[in-house]
Amino acid sequence: MSRKIDDPIIRDANDPAAIGQALELLRAGQCVAVPTETVYGLAADATNGDGVARIFAAKGRPSFNPLICHVPDMGMADRLAFIDPLSEALMAAFWPGALTIVCRLREESGIHPLATAGLDTVGLRSPVGVMSALARALGQPLAAPSANKSGRVSPTSAAHVAASLEGRIPLILDGGAARVGVESTIVRVEADHIALLRPGGISRGAIAQASGRPVRTPSRGASNPIVTAPGQLTSHYAPTGAVRLDAEHVEPHEWLIAFGPRLPEGHDAARGIINLSPSGDLREAAANLFGALAAIDRPAIRAIAVMPIPDEGLGEAINDRLKRAAAPRD
Ligand code: TXA
Ligand code: MG
Repeated sequence: MSRKIDDPIIRDANDPAAIGQALELLRAGQCVAVPTETVYGLAADATNGDGVARIFAAKGRPSFNPLICHVPDMGMADRLAFIDPLSEALMAAFWPGALTIVCRLREESGIHPLATAGLDTVGLRSPVGVMSALARALGQPLAAPSANKSGRVSPTSAAHVAASLEGRIPLILDGGAARVGVESTIVRVEADHIALLRPGGISRGAIAQASGRPVRTPSRGASNPIVTAPGQLTSHYAPTGAVRLDAEHVEPHEWLIAFGPRLPEGHDAARGIINLSPSGDLREAAANLFGALAAIDRPAIRAIAVMPIPDEGLGEAINDRLKRAAAPRD
C-alpha cells in the first residue's frame, strides 16, 4: 500500500533508518521536518529549487522570505559565502548554536535563489544535532524555516509540527522538545557594529561580549533592505525594465515572462521569452521566479510583459513578488 502524505510519519530522530529515509527524501527534492535546539525546521536541500518551493507550499499562504541555510560547520559556510573575520569569530564562539549570521553569498554557492529570495546574502546557521548531521551527510546546506503553517507559532515538538502541517509533509523526525524554544538570533556584521536583525536564542549581551563590538538594532527602511516583512524587499525584485502584469498579448518591443503551455497573442514577435513553467506547474514556477527576474534585469531590457498566473497555492506568493517588481519606482 502506498503511503499517503496526509499521514505524516513521525519517526525517532535517533533511529538510523529514519535518518536514511530523511536523506532519501531530501535527495529527491522533498522537505522533511527536523528538530533543532531552537525550534523544529522544515528542511529541504537549499540547492534544489523544487525542494525549496515545497517548503513554501507546505507552509501555506507563502511569502517568499529568505530562508536560513543550515550548515554542519564553518567549512561549508566558507564554501557558500564570504566570511569576514568578525563573522568567523562569532561562528567560532556560538556554533553549533542559536546564532544565524548573514554573510555575502559566493556566486558559485549553488544555493537556489528561491532560498535566498534573490538576495546576494545568506543567513547561515549551524544548529546542534540532527539538522547539522543531515546537512553533512547530504553535502549541501539545508534551507529551513520554522516547521509551522504561516501565521502559527513556531513548533517546539514533533506533535506541534504534526498539528500544524498534517497532510502537507511526508516525514517528521522526532528529537523531543526543543531545548531553546525560540528561534535563533540573526546578526550581520557592519563596519563598526553588529546589527541585530532578530533577537533570539543568543542574547545581545553575549554577542557584544564575544565580538567586542556594540550590537545595534537597525532602523527599518531603505538602508536596511533586510527583511522582517516581505515589503522591505521591494527594491530587490524590481528589474530595470518596466513590468506589465496580467498581459493577454505581447508587444514587439517587450520581453515575455510566460506561464503554462498557451502563450499569448504576439509572442512570436516578442524580444524574448522566459517561461516560468511550460507545463503550468506553480511549484516549478516558484522555483524559477527569482532566476527569471535576475535574468531580465538588464539595461537592454526596457519592457516586460508577464502572463497572468493563477492566484492559488504558490501562485499567491509569485503574484505578490511580481506586483512588487511592477510597482512604481521611487
Ligand atoms: O531558529 C531558527 O532560526 C529556525 C530554525 C529552524 O533554524 N529557523 C527560522 O527560520 O526561524 P525562519 O524562516 O522562520 O526565519 C528566517 C528569517 C527571515 O524571515 C529573515 O528575517 C531572516 O531569517 N533572514 C534569512 N536570510 C536572510 C538574509 N539573507 N538577510 C537578512 N535576513 C535574513
Ligand atoms: Mg518562522
